[in-house]
Parts: sequence; C-alpha cells; structure tokens
Amino acid sequence: MFTTVDNISSVRASLVVALLSTVLLLLWKTYYKFIQLGNRIPGIGVWNLAFGLMNQMPKDGPHVGLLGFLMNFVNSHEGEPCRIWLLNELCVILTKPKDIEVVLGNVKIFKKSGHYAMMKRLMGQGLFTADDFAVWRRHRKIITPTLHFNILKDFVPIFYKQATKLANKTKDKEQVNIFSAVGLCTLDSICNTAMGINIFAQDSDNNTFLQDFYSILKVWHTRMTNPWIMLDLMFNVSRYREIHDNAADRMKYFTNEILHLKRDKYGVNKSGVTVRSESRSTAFLDMMLTCWSEHGLSDTELKDEIITLILAGQETTATVNSFALIMLAYHQNIQLKVQEELDSIFEQWRENDCPSFEDLQKMNYLEMVIKETLRLFPALPIIGRALNEDLQVNNVTSPAGSTVGVFLYGTHRDPDLYPSPNDFNPDNFLPERQSKRSNYSFVPFGAGIRNCIGQKYAMVQMKTILSTLLRRYRVSPGSGSPPLDNLQLMITSSLKPKHKINLSFTPRR
Ligand code: HEM
Repeated sequence: MFTTVDNISSVRASLVVALLSTVLLLLWKTYYKFIQLGNRIPGIGVWNLAFGLMNQMPKDGPHVGLLGFLMNFVNSHEGEPCRIWLLNELCVILTKPKDIEVVLGNVKIFKKSGHYAMMKRLMGQGLFTADDFAVWRRHRKIITPTLHFNILKDFVPIFYKQATKLANKTKDKEQVNIFSAVGLCTLDSICNTAMGINIFAQDSDNNTFLQDFYSILKVWHTRMTNPWIMLDLMFNVSRYREIHDNAADRMKYFTNEILHLKRDKYGVNKSGVTVRSESRSTAFLDMMLTCWSEHGLSDTELKDEIITLILAGQETTATVNSFALIMLAYHQNIQLKVQEELDSIFEQWRENDCPSFEDLQKMNYLEMVIKETLRLFPALPIIGRALNEDLQVNNVTSPAGSTVGVFLYGTHRDPDLYPSPNDFNPDNFLPERQSKRSNYSFVPFGAGIRNCIGQKYAMVQMKTILSTLLRRYRVSPGSGSPPLDNLQLMITSSLKPKHKINLSFTPRR
C-alpha cells in the first residue's frame, strides 16, 4: 500500500517536472529566437541604455532629449533599420520610405505599440488607441462620414470665427506666445466641431475643462521626457498618476454631461433609436447620435471617440499652425508670397469676409507652406506598431513580439529625399518635385489603414486660421525669440520647441 502511494507521488512529480521542463524549453526557444533575431539587427542594447541612456539624450543642439537621441541614432546607421533593446523590449527603428511601406502598407500590422498605453488611459477604445480590429473597423466606418468634405464646408465659419477672435487678441502685440495663443484657438475649434458646444477657452483660462486638458498634456509631456515615469510601474506610484486620473475623470464626466444633453435634445431613447429629429448641427457628436442611432456607438464608445478626436485634433493642429507662423515670421519673402496669393483671392478685402470653401481650394501656395511645415515639424515625429508575426524589413527580421518605430521625422529630413533637408523651402512641394518622390517619403499623417482620419479636417482648419491671420497682419519674430539657427526641438506630447517663442503681429493696412 505504502509503496503504491509512493509510486503515484513520484509519477506525479515526474510529470510536473516534465511539463515544467517542456514549458521552459518552449519559452527558452521562443525567447532565444527573439533575442537572436534582435541581436542580428545593428543597434544598441540593454547595458548602453541602463547606464548611458540619459547621457545619450542631447541637452543642447537642434534636437534635444529623445528626439536628439533618435536623430543621432538613425544617422549613425545611415537610416537603415536599427534596433534598441529597452531591457527585454526590442524596438526596431525605420526611416527609409521602402522600409516604412513594408510596415504601414501591410494591413495585417494593425496593433499600436505599447507606447500608446499612456494615452489609452484616457482615450480607451477610441480610434487612436483601439487594439481590437473589429471594434476599430466598426468605429472607423461610423466616424469616416462625419468628416466628409460636405461637412467640413460647414466647419469653415466656425474656424473663421475662432481665428478672428485670435486675430483680435494678437492685434499690435509685440509678444504673442504663439503656441499658447494658437492652442486655445484650436481647442475652441475642435470642441465646437466635435461636441457642438463652445468652451470659450480663448475668452478665459479660468475654465475647468481647459485646465484639465492642459494637466493631461503636462503629465504626458513629463512622461515622454522622463523615461522612468514612462514605465507604468513607476508612474502608478508617482504623484502624476493622481493628477492625470483626476483630470481625466473630470473630462470624461464633462463629455458624459454633453452626451446626455444631446441625447435629450434629439430624443434618442435608451435603445438608441431616434424618435424626434430637429434642426441639428454637423458636429461629430450630433452626427454620430442622429445618423447612426440604430447601429451606433454605446455611450462609453462615444465618450472615447469624442475625447480621442479632441486630443488628436487639438495638439496636432496647434503645433503645425504655430510652426507655420514661426517659419513665415523668419522667412519674410515666403510670407510675402503667401500674402500676394491671399490678396489675389480676396481682391476686395473686407475685415469680416469668411473664406468660402472654394477660396480655400485656391490657396495653393499656402498649402505648399503647410506641407513644408508638416515635413520639417511633423506633430507626431514617431509612430509605433506591435508585431504579432516575424517581419522581414530590408535585410533584417524583426521578430514577433517586437515593436517597430516609424521615425518619420528622420525620413522628412533625409538628404537623399530632400536637398538641404533642414531648410524651409515650400518649393519642395511643387507638383513636379512631389511626383518624383515615393508616397512614403512624406507621411506626417501616417499611412495605410491607420492613417489620420482628420487630415482633411486639419488642412481646412489650418488654411482658415493661417489665412485669417495673414490677411490682416505681418508676422515677425518677437523680441527675445531665438535666432532661427538656435531653434531647439524636442518631443513632448507632440513636437515642440524647447523654448517659448514669441511672435509680433503688425497690421498690414
Ligand atoms: C496637422 C494635424 C494632424 C497631424 C499631423 C496628425 C497626425 C496623425 C498621425 C501621424 C496619425 C497616425 C498615428 C499612428 O499611425 O499611430 C494620426 C491618426 C489619427 N488622427 Fe491625426 N493628425 C492631425 C490632425 C487630426 C485631427 C484634426 C483629427 C480629428 C479631428 C485627428 C484624428 C486622428 C485619429 C482619430 C487618428 C487615429 C486613426 C486610426 O487609427 O484609425 N488628427 N494622426
């Protein structure tokens, strides 16, 4: 009897040992392959980073912090695929158009990298951070029509109204902190067009929504510039978590209130069917509630999407509008050319003329200026994808489980694609020059299935804001602004100058 129990126990123990060994062997094989493939890609590894990362983040020069590190890193590998081991995480950086195409042109590479987790806390399953393909596809199908050209036409007077408010505030001012002033204007614009309400950010900064919005951007900024707080483990025990989560909760509560008000207005009942319709605005939220009531989005999904559109649309357009004005202030000859084009479109200049949609289509040179700004100052300088399968890029294999980072900032400044890549030259976007380059040599809005859904919206908004300011004012560098050669750039929640930049606005007539 005793011997039989002993035998059973020892068989059990052997089975457990065999099972554990198999699991360990499988894990080792997978991980070994992961490490082997990773190590075959040229780059840097764990020890360089653990002990030297901070030293490799330039504090001075044209690119500081993470941006400077990435620029130096890709340049030292001549733009070819290169890898970074971040402890056990493998990240492969790509800049060449043909390599980018392999990733962004592949519909199977859908999932965003872990670096988006920071935003996911607030945006949830919104389009930008969604990682479930079926959910993302359904949402994208519902949201795409709300950004149709016909709807964008209705947004022009809204953008114009906010741009005029900005223009009135900047009149004769020597010192306009351009990122701050433009940021409030784009926030008012996006809240108006996303939720159909005015939050009056330009009228008063004593506004909870605005303060919460900026608190969140500030926490993202802190995380992006402090690699240790980037780790969830450290972030969760830091004071930033509380600041972030309190602001995020209030923003969600606010969006929820607006959602309920709208549901009451349209008489959308609990099962989601519209029972009473009335004249409505074309704001995204109104469109999503009334056009898609039956098979539409749940309240949580709607909240995620509205917050996503506000966050994805405000910072990006504020960044590009601001950099465009800075570049024009420093390049007076190019500014004059833009103004000549605007004067020819608005022959009889009247202060209150809102541009028509057709007027915006005629602003070809301004469009080249915006594209050149997007090239030199892409609001999102790097985008990332998580690989579920091994991927052959160029002559290296990026293994399943690794991350690919498309460093589009580096692509846009590649001398093989753009001669004198650091100079501001809108002629880079003359149709004949553009047609000679690969589509993947200019990807400020990403590319492929997860490209920017708001790019047409952005172009209409930026043309309206910039043309409204430039029709009235000559813009020049404000006192104390650094010379152009000393403009230092860094990655925060988006691309930003390291120092505050003031511009001066002088009436043209
Ligand atoms: C100059 C302005 C803008 C720039 C440079 C920009 C850039 C980008 C980029 C690079 C991506 C792809 C990110 C990735 O692949 O990981 C993206 C995605 C996205 N953008 Fe924009 N964006 C701009 C304006 C806007 C605006 C105005 C909106 C909304 C009204 C918007 C909403 C979105 C959304 C929802 C996504 C996620 C799309 C998806 O995954 O299906 N963006 N944007």
